Amino acid sequence: MDQADHASTLQPVRIAGTGSYLPEKILTNHDLEKLVETSDEWITSRTGIKERRIAADGESTSDLATNAARKALEQADIAPEDVQLIIVATITPDTLTPATACYVQEKLGAHGAVAFDVSAACSGFLYAMELAKSLIATGGRTNALIIGAEKLSAFVNWSDRNTCVLFGDGAGAAVLVPSENGGGRILSSHLGTDGRQTELLNIPGGGSCCPITIENADQQLATLAMQGREVFKHAVNAMKRASEHAIETAHLTAGDIDLVIPHQANLRIIDAIVDRLEIPKDNVFINLEKYGNTSAAAVAIALDEANRQGRIKSGDHILLVAFGAGLTWASAAIKW
Ligand code: COA
Repeated sequence: MDQADHASTLQPVRIAGTGSYLPEKILTNHDLEKLVETSDEWITSRTGIKERRIAADGESTSDLATNAARKALEQADIAPEDVQLIIVATITPDTLTPATACYVQEKLGAHGAVAFDVSAACSGFLYAMELAKSLIATGGRTNALIIGAEKLSAFVNWSDRNTCVLFGDGAGAAVLVPSENGGGRILSSHLGTDGRQTELLNIPGGGSCCPITIENADQQLATLAMQGREVFKHAVNAMKRASEHAIETAHLTAGDIDLVIPHQANLRIIDAIVDRLEIPKDNVFINLEKYGNTSAAAVAIALDEANRQGRIKSGDHILLVAFGAGLTWASAAIKW
């Protein structure tokens, strides 16, 4: 189901700061050759990924999230104690409850903030953006910290070559505030979900329908399972449609987009989408060769890197687009 397109006529909202954090440890394709029957050539040609980051033992999703959040708050010039809302998008929470956002609130010292998680897999950061935007536009809040953070290495089956080569750990964050002068703002957004396809990509065990027990502990049920080819097809179609919706609702054309920041899962998926949208490859931001697929963190990390590398200038039109388990998809057109 697609949500009705949404070009807000309410209080406009802009991004005032971004941040990201990647753990130090690098796991290369050559390292993976020692773990499973694979090769750097296969991984690079099928996905574009060369290496990914792996969180340290004892480094949790909320640690990654907090590090990214500090940088975003610093850039936005907002003190932790003034943060009003924290939304963490993750499928790899520190604990099933409480929410990872609660740990982040404590680690930041942002004790005035309402804090909760959203679970929308790789689309999660854009779901969080839509929620935060709405709560600023209608709820009287004057800022929101949104974070995509994942420690996927804790939920990967390291003996399954179909999945273990794809994923990595990391976090990205953004601070949203009201746009006072009619300048930069989120122009449009679009969310969608198809719950008929839950089997294509999931973590089957560890939840209430399949708790991990002594009997099933050796079956790796609390790890990512995926039907890669099917996911690939859905990803291309859904991200193309979501991109078109966000562009049209913002009254733009593909030619107006200065930079596309897509979900970083697979270079072939990104190429297929931008070819269909007829957007030049130079106008697409890609960093998946360094980090692999970091799920909810991917768009957020890419947004921060594009911002800090000077790839986004005041007045530019950027398109964010994502796709993930659920199935879920999401997009946003932004004037910077
Ligand atoms: N190394 C070497 N061979 C591998 C491998 C690996 N890491 N993983 C799979 N293979 C093999 C398969 O076993 C298969 O062998 P077979 O033909 O003998 O059965 C062969 O490579 C081709 O598999 P296939 O699934 O057709 O490859 P593909 O071109 O579709 O690429 C993915 C596989 C996973 C890279 C691709 O389907 C993909 O990116 N899907 C979307 C994944 C995604 O984005 N997920 C997250 C969404 S948010």
